[in-house]
Order: sequence, then structure tokens, then C-alpha cells
Amino acid sequence: MTDTLLRGRFLTFHREPTGAEDASAHTYVEDGAILMRQGRIVATGDYADVAATAGDAAVIDHRPHLMMAGFIDTHIHFPQVQIVASWGSQLLDWLNGYTFPAEAEFGNAQHARAMAGQFCTLLTDHGTTTAVAFCSVHKASADALFSEAADRNMRIIAGKTMMDRNAPDAVLDTSQSGYDDSKELIAAWHGKGRASYAITPRFAITSSPEQLQMANALVGEHPECYVQTHLSENHDEIAFTAELYPDARDYLDVYETYGLLGKRTLLGHAIHLKQREVEAIAQTGAHPVFCPTSNLFLGSGLFDDAGLRAHGISSGIATDIGGGTSYSMLQTLNEGYKVLQLQNQSLHALRAFYWITRGNADVLSMADRIGTLDPGTEADIVVLDPRATPAMALRMGRAETLAEELFALQIMGDDRAIVQTYVAGAPQKGATLHP
Ligand code: GUN
Ligand code: ZN
Repeated sequence: MTDTLLRGRFLTFHREPTGAEDASAHTYVEDGAILMRQGRIVATGDYADVAATAGDAAVIDHRPHLMMAGFIDTHIHFPQVQIVASWGSQLLDWLNGYTFPAEAEFGNAQHARAMAGQFCTLLTDHGTTTAVAFCSVHKASADALFSEAADRNMRIIAGKTMMDRNAPDAVLDTSQSGYDDSKELIAAWHGKGRASYAITPRFAITSSPEQLQMANALVGEHPECYVQTHLSENHDEIAFTAELYPDARDYLDVYETYGLLGKRTLLGHAIHLKQREVEAIAQTGAHPVFCPTSNLFLGSGLFDDAGLRAHGISSGIATDIGGGTSYSMLQTLNEGYKVLQLQNQSLHALRAFYWITRGNADVLSMADRIGTLDPGTEADIVVLDPRATPAMALRMGRAETLAEELFALQIMGDDRAIVQTYVAGAPQKGATLHP
């Protein structure tokens, strides 16, 4: 197969920028090129230099658009694709009224397969090339998502949700079946192609102590797997958790007691934290995940990014579809900027684009594979048009620096700004995926 040479502007990050003026954390090339071979990036640089070494590579000219590493979404619910934008309630009522009934349908393997196709297409249409996903409680839902991602050679981290109480029967497992199904899914998918498994106890309310004990056993048996759950999103949720786990010092202590915290643990939301919880998160190396569109939509609260950073904690950022309202990591940054503004904190554009690429990859300990345009990494690439709409084009007419252009893209951009998304070197937009 011949190589492919993408021509256009490109931006990639080497580390987190220390401030809005820190230009040394990234490389930006005006007339750049990315050479792809067999799903990997093999060279980047000035177009003239890379082209000179590229032989008969097929050239795709993306000028004047901007190429970056594909976006990474570190918290999203695959079985919630049909309940995005469901009116009127906060977390617990929203789960009972909308979420659990929708997730119940994912026991039907055919439905799960159909939704998995739509889900993956939506991700790549929005520039997202890696997602960390909650499936439903049903093993079939996880099989559907993993096989859809495998068909597309798409990197995925996912897990069957473990939940054995406080929800309708149709979305419950038992501590034993949750363990057994997770175990089978790990054997079937973890480390296969681009898939990784996340052990997924939904949250303290829907997992009995026996189930968290089983999750603990899975972590012990599979330390290479991720762990994902929810933490301190909503005041009623926190109060109910305290009733269910009266001996726990606080919400985090429930997960701590069952050995679920470590560098591969992702804690969705983590908004209303006590000082002890923040310190314990820092100590264990676990990662909170900021879900701004969801936190605003469900009225959950304001994520204290600066407070966590002051403790050396590195957080992910994510859509949290379907509590979240957009698949777009650009729109996630937009709302994230506003959540931080409300707390007199700030999110400058370089850090924002670092966060949805290399930053989230670092949270997943995957920056050697995704999140940058470094040679040797997987060719997951997004091509952005900062002038995608008339309003954006008008705004860009006054953008004088890269940071200014990026900031307007962060605030105004969505899937209309995604010109193309490459997954392991293959273009997804306009592709026929199932001939
Ligand atoms: N807490 C437990 N389950 C969920 C969920 O599906 N979405 C959100 N936003 N929070 C949760
Ligand atoms: Zn969630």
C-alpha cells in the first residue's frame, strides 16, 4: 500500500503549556506535512522536507486547514445516544426517568449493534478518534461497541457497566454475573487491536458492597485495565451515597476502601469534593474528569479545575453524552471555558487544545500512541476549518495570532469545523464503512 502525505498547517503538543504565552510546548508548522504509513505517522515537518523523502506517497492537500491529533473523549455513555437533551431533571431523576429505560434496550444485541455504528460515526464526525465509554449493564452492549470499533480500527476504551441495585431489573446484574461478564469481556477484548477494557462500576449508589468487592477482585486480577466510575456530581447523589455507605469517611472513601483508585482510574465529574478527597485523589494518582456540558445541563455544579491542579492532580475533559449535550470536544471546551469563568479561573486556547489531545492521552497513559503527531504514533488525525461558518469566517478575519484563532475555534467550533478525521490513517468522513 502506498503511503499518504497530508499537506496543511499542523499543530502538536510536546507537553502542557505553562501559560497563554508558552509557545515552546507545541510545534506549529504553516506549510506542513504528515506522512502516514500502515496506520502510523512516520514523519512530520515542513512540506518540502517531508515530500522530498516521501517517494510516491499519495498527497492529500488540506491547505489552508489545520491538522491536529484526533480528539480524545475521556467519559461518554454509549447507550445514551437517544436521550441527549432530555428535559427537566437533575441527576437522580434524570437517571430514573430517562437513562435507565434507554439503557434497558441495549440488552437487545441488534439494537446495541445499530447504535454502536451510529455512535462511532458521531464520534469521528466530531473529530473524536478515541473514546472512553460506559456501555450498558448488558454484556452484548460492550461486545457491540468493541466490535464496531474493531471494524473501524478505532481506539476504544470501554466497559460493561456494573450495577446491582437501585435501578430497574432490566438494567441490573448481580455481583457474580457482573464479575463473570466483565471477566469474559476482558478476555475477549482487552489488548486486542486498539481496544482496552475499563472495569466499570457505575457509581456507589448502584453497586452493593459485594459488587465493589468483585470490582476490586477484577482490578487485582487485571491491573492493566482501566477503572471508570462517577464521583460527587450532585448533592442528592452524595447524600444517598452517605446513607448507603454509612461507614465511609466521604464519597471517595467508598472507592478507596475497595481499592479502586490508581493511575488508571477515571472519576467522572468530581465536583463537590472535600479537602480529604482532593488529597486522596492526588495521592493515588486517580484522574477526575471534567464534563462541562453535562455539569451545566444537569445543574450539577462547577468543576474546580484550579483547585485540583494546585494539588498536582491531572484531570481529563469529556463530553459525558447523554448528560452532556454535544459530541464535540470543541463545544466541550467552549462550555468548559465558561464554567471556569464563573469561578474566576481561565482556560487559554493552547491549554484547551493540549487538553483534548495530548492532555487526555496523558491521563490515559497513552501519549506514546495517541494525542500527538509524533512519528511512531497512531495516525489518528483531525483536520479543522476555523472558518467553517460565515460567523467563524468573519471572526477569523480579525484573528492575528495562532492563539487567537484557536480560541475562536474553541468557542465557536463544532462538527461543522471538522473537515476530515483519520482513524489509523483511514479517512472517516465520506467513507463507506460497511460495503
Ligand atoms: N452517575 C451515574 N450514572 C451516571 C450517568 O449515566 N451520567 C451521569 N452524568 N452521571 C451518572
Ligand atoms: Zn457519566
